[in-house]
Amino acid sequence: PHPIYERLRAQGPLTHDGGMWLTTSHPLAGKILRDRRFGVRFADGSYPTNASLLPESFLELDPPDHTRLRRIATPAFSPKKIDEYRARVEKVADSLLDRDEFDLIADFAAPLPISVISDLLGIPDSDTAEFADYGALVAASFDSGVTQEMANANDKVLALFDRLIAQRRRTPGDDVISSLVAAEAEQKLTAQEMLGTLVLLLVAGFETTVNLIGNGTRALLGHPSQWKLFKANPDLAPSVVEETLRWAPPVQLTSRIAHEQVDRIGKDEMVTLLIGAANRDPEVYPEAHKFDVMRVHRPEHLAFSSGIHYCLGATLARMEGDVAFRALARRMPELKQAGPVTFRDSVVIRGMRSFPVSRS
Ligand code: HEM
Repeated sequence: PHPIYERLRAQGPLTHDGGMWLTTSHPLAGKILRDRRFGVRFADGSYPTNASLLPESFLELDPPDHTRLRRIATPAFSPKKIDEYRARVEKVADSLLDRDEFDLIADFAAPLPISVISDLLGIPDSDTAEFADYGALVAASFDSGVTQEMANANDKVLALFDRLIAQRRRTPGDDVISSLVAAEAEQKLTAQEMLGTLVLLLVAGFETTVNLIGNGTRALLGHPSQWKLFKANPDLAPSVVEETLRWAPPVQLTSRIAHEQVDRIGKDEMVTLLIGAANRDPEVYPEAHKFDVMRVHRPEHLAFSSGIHYCLGATLARMEGDVAFRALARRMPELKQAGPVTFRDSVVIRGMRSFPVSRS
């Protein structure tokens, strides 16, 4: 149990603390996420923070712009597309596990999603390292603000995307950049919106799935009976994924702004939805603090949010987690922690910086 979440939970489903509304309740958080009287912007359309250098994306937009831009990106992440893609992810996972002593984060959990999203977007291998460094800097900037290093990396990546976009305008391929370029040609989105979409997909693909794989592996090794159960029955992989997402969600919180007075919440007041706490709401999940891969997940956890901003990459992330956990169980049944874990220093992202492990 997280002491701050439990202290807030004791104050009831909706509480006012540190100048904002907060909820730890699964039903209330879900209700707010699905309530069209709330948005991600103020009622007049302005956005609460402008600290980030990232181009604006549909994650930071309310309808109708959100609807228009999300619709353009959606086909690339359809369950059918993701299923067709699975064999390639299996190959990547397998090749990353040809080792005995390694860092589960740096050598497995991070390179897998990086390689997958780069491939889906259409980033050539020669540029992947540059994008990966950028992803790491963006992640650091969530916690420590924008640095000069981040600003430089940002300029570089936008230039790289510009180059790839120009190239796809000349010679389209079967990738997300090409599909966005086609939509641009039909005037469904602007060049700036295309850049925002690409950066969102890149960052969302890099910074979250790594922690699903990391947090799940650590949970399994920390619960030997669950690890044993899973190894004996690898088809539990989807349940391992769901229970990891519930028990240790990579994204711990999000927020919404009321566009009109809603009960006690005033117009333009912000509500923070504590996903990490809602996922352990004892009113919804019996023995909520227990990591239990046999758990029945009804209702669904909020790790992917809910409502119109429900994670567009959820099917992809689930598939990557499924592949990663199966590969570990099959290739590394004696996997052990081999040194001290260090954690990410963040309130939003829950994950490890480093997790030394060995095959036996
Ligand atoms: C949105 C979590 C993986 C793409 C979100 C949101 C959450 C989330 C919580 C919604 C935030 C909000 O409502 O304010 C996660 C987790 C992942 C994951 C936990 C991995 C385990 C991915 C992947 C992609 C992706 C692999 C693919 C590229 C997106 C996009 C949005 C989004 C595009 C914005 C959706 C919208 O605004 O309509 N994700 N995500 N995510 N995610 Fe993910």
